[in-house]
Amino acid sequence: MMDPEVLTERAAQLIAQTATLGELHAVQVELLGKNSALAVARHSVGRLDEAERPEAGRRLLEVREEIERLLAQRRAVLEEDQRRCRLSGDRLDLTEVALASQRGRLHLVQRTRDELEDVFVGMGFVVAEGPEVETDWYNFEALNMPVAHPARGMWDTLYLDLGEEETVLLRTHTSPVQIRLMQDQVPPIYAVMPGRCYRRDTPDARHIPVFHQLEGLVVDHGISFADLAGTIETFTTAYFGSDTHSRLRPSYFPFTEPSAEFEVTCSICKGKGCRTCSHTGWVELGGCGMVDPEVFVAVGVDPEEWTGFAFGFGIDRLAQMRHVIPDMRILLDNDVRFLRQL
Ligand code: DAH
Repeated sequence: MMDPEVLTERAAQLIAQTATLGELHAVQVELLGKNSALAVARHSVGRLDEAERPEAGRRLLEVREEIERLLAQRRAVLEEDQRRCRLSGDRLDLTEVALASQRGRLHLVQRTRDELEDVFVGMGFVVAEGPEVETDWYNFEALNMPVAHPARGMWDTLYLDLGEEETVLLRTHTSPVQIRLMQDQVPPIYAVMPGRCYRRDTPDARHIPVFHQLEGLVVDHGISFADLAGTIETFTTAYFGSDTHSRLRPSYFPFTEPSAEFEVTCSICKGKGCRTCSHTGWVELGGCGMVDPEVFVAVGVDPEEWTGFAFGFGIDRLAQMRHVIPDMRILLDNDVRFLRQL
């Protein structure tokens, strides 16, 4: 009969050499299966003298237990290796994500719109949207501009060949969304309404025929012009930083009374005067004012109970000033050399 110690030693060697769970299984069959040296040794116990049998049997049992212990130990090691291997195969290569983010990015106008929405949401406003194709009633009439009102001339309008002549148009500003909001919702209202607008304008350094505005509307009890001025000041400082100055100037819009225009120091020439600001040192961002009672009447809001202010400005114009872009037309060129800089 083979020496039990030799059996154990050989088994230990075989087990240590295994590299996979499959190999370990094969070794296990070889060491403990019915053709194994151990099995042969167990058979030969029967041929020993009766007095020697119990001792020989006990030693072989010890050998078997030792081999089983070694197998279990090795299995734990190999299983851990296999698990590590699988995990590293499943690993996400984040460098690929970093590369992908270099492939494309949001256009400056979209980014500016997102940033402005964040500023206003931070001030307690909600964001709303309306259609780009509007009727004359929403774009003009409900905003206190009856048919043939001279103020309609402030907006060079693109009409669509739909319905009766000059009744369906591409909205010239985001102000019609104010009307839709007041029809849908009872005050108090604190909302901003960003979106695309269209005008029959000749493109130049400060104008493009397709542009973006952000409209604001607040309707509540006891709203005053001071609330309006404070809101404009807060958002221009939040967006431009405290070294850009803004100012309000008396103006006229049919849907607000009183009305004002707000301007910021031209960032191209730092207020000295240049081609972009038509040598005034200031660039107009938008208009604002206290909602005219006629507008409240058109949408069924009681002007005796509620007051409000509204404002609207060009998102593209704002981006132009903050990023010091001398000519706005470049925003539409889609020249990758420009887009990549942003
Ligand atoms: N809708 C105006 C425009 O496009 C801007 C404007 C002025 C909006 C005054 C307002 C406002 O809400 O109160 O020129």
